[in-house]
Amino acid sequence: MTTVLGIEGTAWNLSAAIVDEDDVIAEVTETYRPKTGGIHPREAAQHHALHASNVIERLLKEYRDKGHSPENIDAIAFSQGPGLGACLRTVATSARALALSLDVPLVGVNHCIGHVEIGRWKTPAVDPVVLYVSGGNSQVLAHRAGKYRIFGETLDIGIGNALDKFARGAGLTHPGGPKVEEYARKATNYVKMPYVVKGMDFSFSGLSTAATDSLKDNSLEDVCYSFQENAFAMLVEVTERALAHTGKSEVLLAGGVGANMRLREMLNVMCEDRGASFYVPEKRFMGDNGAMIAYTGLLMFNSGTTLPIESSHVDPSFRPDTVDVTWIIDEKEVL
Ligand code: ATP
Ligand code: FE2
Repeated sequence: MTTVLGIEGTAWNLSAAIVDEDDVIAEVTETYRPKTGGIHPREAAQHHALHASNVIERLLKEYRDKGHSPENIDAIAFSQGPGLGACLRTVATSARALALSLDVPLVGVNHCIGHVEIGRWKTPAVDPVVLYVSGGNSQVLAHRAGKYRIFGETLDIGIGNALDKFARGAGLTHPGGPKVEEYARKATNYVKMPYVVKGMDFSFSGLSTAATDSLKDNSLEDVCYSFQENAFAMLVEVTERALAHTGKSEVLLAGGVGANMRLREMLNVMCEDRGASFYVPEKRFMGDNGAMIAYTGLLMFNSGTTLPIESSHVDPSFRPDTVDVTWIIDEKEVL
């Protein structure tokens, strides 16, 4: 049995977990909550620096209290990117110190792949098309020929940031996504809005601005509803085309925006129409969490991928399709 301690801290969640092949053994999370507006990168990094040692101490205590010894830990995994540079550097520093003090190897995990792997672990999905939708990220991913390929992605901002930006302009508090969902439920009319899909990519910045403008002539409820309908239809269209293109028969939803019931409903309808299975992990594994970094680190470690400390720099724009997926044997390739 392999045991890995993983630390996530690409944005506002600082979260550390210890996992083995079977389950999450311990997890501790400290969330940075901005007093006003959205995330301030420097403040988020200061938050992580302030809480890092305390989070690790509490995690190791929980692990010991459950009857385990830190000597069992085989590797330290950390979120190497993509994310906010200052936050990533803080987390990487803690991870290096911990790897040195426990004298175990370091594993650098791509945050997007972390979302995919925890979803594959915690749902029955085996080889899904993944829709990863959060504040900073919006991507459609799937495994092919040794890599997680990006089939489509946002050309500007993530869907969550687009919702948050619009919500802030409408006087709603952060995070705006859940509030937009609530208002949308009470809508009575659809208001025409931009629908932007270019090839397999999508864009949300213009939609967010158009939604703000249309508040002049329409109710907040109707604008929230129409914003969601267009944004989610764009995401579902690209996910469906990725299914058709790859011939896969599973869809996995990941990221904080995946909490939205209307998005789930639309994906579910599309999957039912195509005879595909639709999987949503439980909430604690959908947003950013330490377990996803620890578990992906475990898969990487078990397939021989570790990171020398000298080359463990972070990468704020780390793309998932640059990672060799050494832990999945692609049967079609082998044959
Ligand atoms: P990442 O680093 O992956 O970009 P993140 O920091 O954005 O992650 P998440 O917890 O994955 O963190 O996602 C937060 C986003 O999810 C916010 O933009 C928030 O508005 C959005 N969100 C949360 N709940 C809902 C909901 N019910 N409907 C729509 N959006 C939601
Ligand atoms: Fe994320």
